[in-house]
Order: sequence, then C-alpha cells, then structure tokens
Amino acid sequence: MSFNTFGHLFRFTTWGESHGPAIGAVVDGCPPGLAIDEGMIQPFLDARRPGQSKFTTQRQEPDQVRILSGVFEGRTTGTPISLMIENVDQRSKDYSDVALAYRPGHADYAYDAKYGFRDYRGGGRSSARETASRVAAGAVARLVIPEVTIRAYVSEIGGDMIDPGNFDEAEIGENPFFCPDPAAAKRWEKIVDDARLNGSSVGAVVECYARGVPAGWGAPLYGKLDADLAAAMMGINAVKGVEIGDGFAAARLTGEGNADPMRPPVETGPDGAPEFLANHAGGIAGGISTGQPVTCRVAFKPTSSILTPQQTITRDGQATEMFTKGRHDPCVGIRGVPVVEAMMALVLADHKLRHRGQCG
Ligand SMILES: Cc1cc2nc3c(=O)[nH]c(=O)nc-3n(C[C@H](O)[C@H](O)[C@H](O)COP(=O)(O)O)c2cc1C
Repeated sequence: MSFNTFGHLFRFTTWGESHGPAIGAVVDGCPPGLAIDEGMIQPFLDARRPGQSKFTTQRQEPDQVRILSGVFEGRTTGTPISLMIENVDQRSKDYSDVALAYRPGHADYAYDAKYGFRDYRGGGRSSARETASRVAAGAVARLVIPEVTIRAYVSEIGGDMIDPGNFDEAEIGENPFFCPDPAAAKRWEKIVDDARLNGSSVGAVVECYARGVPAGWGAPLYGKLDADLAAAMMGINAVKGVEIGDGFAAARLTGEGNADPMRPPVETGPDGAPEFLANHAGGIAGGISTGQPVTCRVAFKPTSSILTPQQTITRDGQATEMFTKGRHDPCVGIRGVPVVEAMMALVLADHKLRHRGQCG
C-alpha cells in the first residue's frame, strides 16, 4: 500500500528522492486544450528554489522543470502530464551520520520503524525536496482555475507577527520573507539571522487566500472543501497546524461575533450573489465554497536539522548526540509559501472539476 497520489478528478502523483537523479510529478485528469509550456511552471519553482538569500538554505538547485508528456504543440492533450526536475546539488556525504543515528524531530526514526530500510541521503523521500514536485503540479492546476487568484505570505516568524494595519500585498514579493508588512520583514532579518548564527531555527505561520472561487465547490460529506484543504496543507513537510478562516479563534467568539451576515446583492455583484459583511468562515460553509475568499493559516515548526547537538539514539539503540551537518533552512516556513499556494491550487482545481462532474 502506498499513498503518493493526491486528488480525485484532477490528481497528481509525486515521485523521487532528495539525492536520486531527479524528482517529479505526474498530473492526471487535466482537461485538454489548455495552453502550457515550461515557462509557465518555472516562476513558481523559482519562488521555492533554495539559495536565494542568506535567510534560506545555501543549497543551489536550479530546479529546471521539463515536461515529458501530456502536451502537444503547446497545449495539454488530456493525457498524463509528466514533469521532471533534476537533482544537481546533492552532497550525500553530509548525511553519513544520518545513516547511523536519528535526527530528533525529523522523519528518520519513523521511516526506519515503518519500512526497516531507508534512503538516508538528504532525508530521501521524507525530504522537502519533494515539495518542488508539488509546486510544479500546482502550476498546472492554476491553468484549470484561471478565475481564481491565489496568494500566500508569511504572517509570523519566531513568534513575531505582522501588524495587519501595515498589510500591503505589493510588499510580498519585495523582501526575502514573502512578508506583506515591511516593518516586520526588517525585524525578521535579525530573528532569522540570529537563529542561523546560533545553530538554531525558528517556526513560522503562512496565510493563504484564494479570491474568485465561486459558490458551490466542495463535496459533502466526505470531500468537504475545508477538510481537503486541511489534509493538503497538513501533508506539507513541517506543518503542524492548519486553520480555515478564523480557525481556533472562532472557538473564542460568540455566535453573533462569528456570524458572516449577508445582505442582498449590490448592483455590481455577480449573478445575484449576496454581499457578505464578514468572512469568519474562510469562504466555506458546510464544506462548500460560499463565493467569499477561501482563507487558511498554516503553522510550520522550526527546522529540526540544527547545528546544536541533541540527544538521540543510533539505529542499534545506543544513546548518542547528534548535530546536523549540511545546509538547512533556518526557517522552513519561508520556502513553504509557494508550496502552500500550490496545494491550494491543487485542491481547488480538483474541486472545480468535481463540482462540474456532479452539478454540470
Ligand atoms: C520548503 C521546506 C524546506 C525544508 N527544509 C528542511 C531542511 O533544510 N532541514 C530539515 O531538517 N527540515 C526541512 N524541512 C522539514 C522536513 O522536511 C520535515 O520536518 C521532515 O520531513 C519531517 O516531517 P514533519 O516535520 O512533517 O513531521 C523543510 C520543509 C519545507 C516545507
């Protein structure tokens, strides 16, 4: 039994290990006739690519994507689209200790406990290198939902939050943290740099919204849009929490405080859709999109591979200490931003097709 495939009508399977020759994704169920080329996928991979600032890992992976199948004369054919990204900057010797002992907080012990045998080089299949494949698949998903705009950004690093009053969407692409608040981005330089210099790491919260999702996407009861989004986000490496809309804060509100009041459409509103006066629900009710922006928050834990020695055991059960050699992100949530956007796109593309399949 294996589970490397996500989605129903628009589905993708990822393959490959961190230090193998290549990684990739096979996207199946993509409608035919969509204009596509590698240049439409590459910018999303470039946003996730390591080595772009001193606040992310110094590995240098060009992450050039190649389309191997499913596209003819620049358009999707409706057959499986195979995407491949070569691995070019592996240093497997950095991982010789990982072969013998388990990195606390990483997946080494759990993989051994399950499979009894693992590709330890760079974390093998458990490495977040795999998320490049998701980002490539997500770029294809975006072609299926051109009516939707997806944006993610970092709202908190090391416990330091943005000021919502300073939110400026145009700032997100202007700093190395995908941060919409320039003052917070300035503070985070020190927080992330201190963590790196101290051989430590910090966590982050990534927020994501999708605008333009019409009312009606989502498949109750066991394919609810919020449930699928939560599974998609929780499945990203290092993610330990997901909230839809107000999430846990909703539990601290009253019924009237949490309501999203509606009034009849204003003249310019689309096709009689009501005007909502709030969006505590994150654009989803009963597992179905309401036409409001779909919003979620995703909590990334601090990177587990750190330079500070930690107590652990060897594969044969002996006590030892371990610190991680190699090049790691001091805050994995930063490079998690394009991955969160990709998972949002993949879920929405699947639900658009599922909605069309059932309701026409
Ligand atoms: C973009 C990204 C980059 C990551 N880079 C690293 C890294 O350099 N070192 C590390 O220990 N973990 C890194 N991680 C997290 C690990 O892949 C993850 O913690 C590990 O697979 C165990 O899974 P879990 O944390 O989801 O339980 C990264 C995660 C993401 C999303």
